Amino acid sequence: ATNQISVKLVLLGEAAVGKSSLVLRFVSNDFEENKEPTIGAAFLTQRCTIGDKYIKFEIWDTAGQERFANLTPLYYRNAQAALVVYDITKPASFIKARHWVKELHEQASKNIIIALVGNKYDLTLDSETGEEIEGSRKVSLEEGQNLAEEENLLFFESSAKTGYNVNEMFTTIGEKIPEA
Ligand code: GTP
Ligand code: MG
Repeated sequence: ATNQISVKLVLLGEAAVGKSSLVLRFVSNDFEENKEPTIGAAFLTQRCTIGDKYIKFEIWDTAGQERFANLTPLYYRNAQAALVVYDITKPASFIKARHWVKELHEQASKNIIIALVGNKYDLTLDSETGEEIEGSRKVSLEEGQNLAEEENLLFFESSAKTGYNVNEMFTTIGEKIPEA
């Protein structure tokens, strides 16, 4: 077909922020309450159409546990896009996200498209009223937006649990990939 594009995309971020869950939501429209940690890395693909482009995402879902840290460069080295994920209820995961962004800017392909993703948005909302649960959010929207602005990143808050913004982050990246 015309305009068929493959996109190598890598997910990075601290353990348990929801990287695999975002992929599961995107690829299978599913969610698991107690998802097991990724060992090493997982590879999945998903095809989609964006406008007149046929896109095949080739997704490397890396393990966040520290013992796998030395493997991660293998997965981001050739990536055209990266999702750097943190958990908006876990400040340490935001600090880790900053480190990943820096490392990508130093080590990854120069024109890599990076999206900063603050996941687990659902944990900040009361499921009855839809209002914010006081004190649940530990990384503000502004902190995320500011980092994204400073570092020239796309930015999303998301929930793998509800699906909030999950398709949007992949679609926006797909739109930005040049047709080569
Ligand atoms: P590693 O593979 O160890 O790096 O972890 P990961 O980043 O892949 O996290 P994973 O997707 O395994 O999710 C960790 C835990 O958080 C699981 O119990 C998920 O069910 C839960 N989780 C993931 N995303 C969300 C979310 O958006 N909301 C809520 N409430 N829980 C989530
Ligand atoms: Mg995982």
